[in-house]
Amino acid sequence: MARIIAGVTSSHVPAIGAAIDNHRTGEPYWQRVFEGFERSKEWIAKAKPDVVIGVYNDHASAFSVEIIPTFALGTAAEFPIADEGWGPRPVPVVKGHPQLAAHIAQSVILDEFDLTLCNKMEVDHGLTVPLNLMFGTPKEWPCPVIPLAVNVVQYPPPTGNRCFMLGKAIRKAVESYPEDLKVVVFGTGGMSHQISGQRAGLINSKFDHAFLDDLTKNPKKLTRLSHLELMREAGAEGVEMVMWLIMRGALDDKVDEVYRFYTVPASNTAVGHIILENRIRGAKKSAVKSPSKSKKPTPKLKRAAAAQKIQRIRS
Ligand code: DHB
Ligand code: FE
Repeated sequence: MARIIAGVTSSHVPAIGAAIDNHRTGEPYWQRVFEGFERSKEWIAKAKPDVVIGVYNDHASAFSVEIIPTFALGTAAEFPIADEGWGPRPVPVVKGHPQLAAHIAQSVILDEFDLTLCNKMEVDHGLTVPLNLMFGTPKEWPCPVIPLAVNVVQYPPPTGNRCFMLGKAIRKAVESYPEDLKVVVFGTGGMSHQISGQRAGLINSKFDHAFLDDLTKNPKKLTRLSHLELMREAGAEGVEMVMWLIMRGALDDKVDEVYRFYTVPASNTAVGHIILENRIRGAKKSAVKSPSKSKKPTPKLKRAAAAQKIQRIRS
């Protein structure tokens, strides 16, 4: 049986992709961001998912105002990298898992979530940047990725509650797939940001931290946030965070938060990242070590934790 072992959230700021592509990750501004994902890369290398379900939003790359699917599941074998105006990013093509994707489509649609199925779809920074943050810059992505594109660009996006319920349906689908696969769900976008209008540049760290706390402990509360509340608190583009609730809905009610990272800003955006593990009976706890609990935290880690508010909640 396939099972969802963990969920990951991460921002998808396109300038992070540009920093990688232009070899600028060592500059202090960017180092601050990338350092926060070093432990995450170690975690995922150990977790070794067989498949990632990447919940992200398309930024008028595969779709446009002509066609606006609310939930679009990538059922293809491959997803080419979109040209977002300056050529496709030099990252590996995203390889899908058509069998599992078709199974999810059948299960979820029969559960009354009317997905759009995409047998052909290009993917943009919304998906590729989180893949880079978690996997670095390999020649090939280490596992198949099933993209799930959510409309959060053109009003009306789906509600947080609908997203959470879809996550539950996806979990049911995964758990009825006969092959023994370990699946990690990525919820991407956010955190607070607004890139145009009078409030351009808005960041609300207080809201972001509370959102991260509730994501782990009280996600139901987040499902009750209206779009207006989300946008008022987290900026117009902060509404991307409804996508995180798909990831959260796919996990157990009670999860272990094994890692958290938050830094501001990257471009216009607050970068928020969390790793939540399902509690699998009899399984060993996560490999992400808490510097506060490990005997000898390295000076580098101590510095990073202090400077960048890295919080490792559990070992
Ligand atoms: C920025 C953030 C986004 O999420 C996005 O899609 C585009 C730009 C930014 O911070 O610049
Ligand atoms: Fe975005």
